[in-house]
Amino acid sequence: MRRGEKLILGGMAVLIVGLMVKNYIAFSSTPSHEKSIPFYSTASKELTIAGDAIYKAQNCKKCHSLWTIKNIMATVPAPMLDGIGSLRSEKWLLDYFSAGDPQKILKGRLKAEWSMPSYSHLPQQDRETLAAYMASLKVEDWYLEDLKKLEYKKLTGNEWPAEDAKDKQ
Ligand code: HEC
Repeated sequence: MRRGEKLILGGMAVLIVGLMVKNYIAFSSTPSHEKSIPFYSTASKELTIAGDAIYKAQNCKKCHSLWTIKNIMATVPAPMLDGIGSLRSEKWLLDYFSAGDPQKILKGRLKAEWSMPSYSHLPQQDRETLAAYMASLKVEDWYLEDLKKLEYKKLTGNEWPAEDAKDKQ
């Protein structure tokens, strides 16, 4: 090898090792939450099973997504329900599921066939279970603002208007 070639090879080796170290530092200093899913549930096992059974029987997933952070803005026209318990209280949810006309509580923007149906016909016990289950679906604090923005966009079709929307909450 000529001297010039050695220099080039040496330079490349230094560069590669340098990049590896840099990436390693960048990766290991990424806050751990940025690598994890922000949604969690506080429900007991019983509540999860009972709530999930009603959720399935009523086919809520026809319109909503739950337990997925992928395709957040995808074709599903209704808001996703991950973290909904950090946005709405259990009482709000029970009132909403019990309302004869849910659009009076939360105005949607979709055609009637895609709008939130009334579940006032369900037994009180089922509505309570559903409300408790939904209220247990939480989001980590660091993702709360992002979730609010996504929810706002799903409901209104508009981007989150920074300050004035916060005032109205
Ligand atoms: C036909 C589609 C459809 C079905 C089925 C449906 N939803 Fe909805 N839901 C919507 C839409 C759309 C909205 C947003 C408000 C609107 O447009 O009426 C909504 C809103 C909600 C909200 C409020 C979301 C928010 O941002 O505050 C909750 C909670 C909810 N639905 C839970 C449920 C549960 C639980 C079920 C099953 C028992 C269910 N939905 C079934 C379409 C549906």
